[in-house]
Amino acid sequence: MAMKIPFIHHKQPQEALQIPGDGTPEHVAIIMDGNGRWAQKRGMTRAAGHKEGMSTVVKIVRAAVQSKVNILTLYTFSTENWKRPKAEVETILRLPKQFMKTYLPELIANNVRIEVIGDMGKLPIYTREAVQYAMDRTRKNDGLQLNFALNYGSRHEILRAMKEMLGDLQNEKLSLDDLDEQHFSSYLDTGGLKDPDLLIRTGGEKRLSNFLLWQLAYTEFWFSDVLWPDFSEQEFLQALDEYRQRKRRYGGI
Ligand code: IPE
Ligand code: IPE
Ligand code: MG
Repeated sequence: MAMKIPFIHHKQPQEALQIPGDGTPEHVAIIMDGNGRWAQKRGMTRAAGHKEGMSTVVKIVRAAVQSKVNILTLYTFSTENWKRPKAEVETILRLPKQFMKTYLPELIANNVRIEVIGDMGKLPIYTREAVQYAMDRTRKNDGLQLNFALNYGSRHEILRAMKEMLGDLQNEKLSLDDLDEQHFSSYLDTGGLKDPDLLIRTGGEKRLSNFLLWQLAYTEFWFSDVLWPDFSEQEFLQALDEYRQRKRRYGGI
């Protein structure tokens, strides 16, 4: 039998950064959908829609900073999005570099910390370098944590976590007795982060598309028909307001 080893978090939980205390969600996750349809409606290329979507990202990040949201997790490119035409995939994966080049100084000035969830190893070098640079430059910031989900798929994440955990069981860094929900969570890319309080999906679809399946177990959902490039700060603030009115029961009464 494996030796019993005291419970150690694989990834240490972070201290709460700012707690507004007015019911503002601490962690907001967004499925930013509708770029392609936005562009096609205007007779533009889908690529143009993705570029326009980048401007919305900046607006929403600013609104999140102002609202004192602690963590904002943005679904940027899924493990299933590789199925798209090569040119579109490349357009999307080149955006992080453009985004950082334009907005990193502002994000630094606003004390934003940038992180990535997903399998970064499979991303092209230009994407990896851009986000790695941004992560390094913002590592010490303790304001909003901005997570980009890049080459992210929840099932893929769970499998990667499982493999790492099985390795730790095998070399006795972990014993089966210590394995509980909290410990399992620590192996996920979001390890140490509070689960999202609020999930927003724009673009009209009502599905998760393989996003944060484990982490969204008790999250409040908010859907909007507005296509991502048209999504505004006002709508974001409306989602936060509606969240404040929700009664979360977690199975209780
Ligand atoms: C979301 O917009 C962005 C990504 C998936 C990268 P879409 O490109 O999915 O836009 P629609 O859903 O086709 O309109
Ligand atoms: C989800 O949007 C992925 C991202 C927003 C990055 P999709 O457009 O890929 O989702 P489906 O295909 O409509 O489910
Ligand atoms: Mg879509």
